[in-house]
Amino acid sequence: MNRAINILGRKLRLGVIGGGVDSFIGTVHRGAALLHEQFEVTASVLSSNPERSLNDGKTLGIPRPYATAEDLFAGEKDHPEKIDLLAIMTPNNSHYELSLQALDCGMDIFCEKPLTMTLEESEDLAAKLAQTDRIYCVAYAYTGYAMVRQARAMVEAGDLGELRSVQCDYIQGHLAELGDNEADNWHMKPEVAGESLILGDIGTHCFHLASYITGENPQDLCADVTSIVPGRTAHDYCGVLLRYANGARGSFTVTQAIAGGIHGLKIRVSGSKGTVEWDQESPDELIHRTLNSPERRLVRGGKGLHEAAHRATHVAMGHPEGYKEAFANLYLDIADHMLARHQGQKPEPLALWYPDIQDGVDGMKFIKAALTSSQQQSAWQALG
Ligand SMILES: NC(=O)c1ccc[n+]([C@@H]2O[C@H](COP(=O)([O-])OP(=O)(O)OC[C@H]3O[C@@H](n4cnc5c(N)ncnc54)[C@H](O)[C@@H]3O)[C@@H](O)[C@H]2O)c1
Repeated sequence: MNRAINILGRKLRLGVIGGGVDSFIGTVHRGAALLHEQFEVTASVLSSNPERSLNDGKTLGIPRPYATAEDLFAGEKDHPEKIDLLAIMTPNNSHYELSLQALDCGMDIFCEKPLTMTLEESEDLAAKLAQTDRIYCVAYAYTGYAMVRQARAMVEAGDLGELRSVQCDYIQGHLAELGDNEADNWHMKPEVAGESLILGDIGTHCFHLASYITGENPQDLCADVTSIVPGRTAHDYCGVLLRYANGARGSFTVTQAIAGGIHGLKIRVSGSKGTVEWDQESPDELIHRTLNSPERRLVRGGKGLHEAAHRATHVAMGHPEGYKEAFANLYLDIADHMLARHQGQKPEPLALWYPDIQDGVDGMKFIKAALTSSQQQSAWQALG
């Protein structure tokens, strides 16, 4: 039987702020939340334009569409059927305030990355969250892929030995040319997106993915953060070197401005005994190489994988699962955690493999250190 209905007698209620019908991420979130049938979308604020927000909510058939975020918090706070989880997918400069208001209303939160605009805001939010029993997930969605979880489980099990090296490339192409109206795009505005487009938009994904798989945060980094397309002021490129406590090294190349680039997220983690490689454009595969045996191609759904990968697998091998399913796995983890808390029990440990508030704070530390380094001729910076 449906776990939420079994435990609560109903599905969990989700509210969404942002992610309107015109947005990139809204349909992904709303679709992913429904995939495992633990949530229903109950309330929404789908636009910064109040009229549009109401209209779009009604058009999508959402039972309680609100005109503004203020209306949603006022309407839901003491509602007898209050939303359980608020998913925040607005532009970056509102994540902090909306999170604080959601905490004030006693809601669990699933917030888009980057967590906030500054490290100070992130740390403040984490401190306030720590005074509650609320659940907070940050949408580092690549951690929801089964074969990313397999890679992490292999590192945890010691299959790769001691960490030696991490390389992550994130090479997109949609900003390869200067657009006509870039000044109007919020992603390009530091006051809305944060100080660095590339670091906040996809650099944090690399940083988090490397930490997620290796189980380690680097100690320090040096970075070159810049714009490679003439005439653009927003950063569209960064190169980063990483040093880990045990002497391991890492590097990222991250850009949205490569002619012909598609999505291009790839990561390679190497230890003293072997290497795993994962490519988001072939997400059902994980390549495993060792010192003395032939290369293995591990396939999602196949035999012999770790339980963490099985838990994130929902259709048989050979039937592809992708981006929306990865998001759905985060919603499933959150639901499991919420339902265990409702029963006064500890969640299954693998349900806690979703990215939490500390991951969001670490992402902001990464942005700050990379910018500081770049402004100081790429000098090494401690991550703190
Ligand atoms: N995790 C991921 O893989 C991923 C991918 C893409 C975007 N994102 C993040 O999602 C967020 C949104 O990005 P996007 O690319 O979807 O942006 P977008 O510009 O495509 O969409 C933003 C949406 O938010 C709405 N909106 C803006 N202000 C609002 C407000 N005050 N109240 C309610 N709605 C409001 C807009 O009407 C629009 O529908 C950003 O934080 C971004 O970093 C994450």
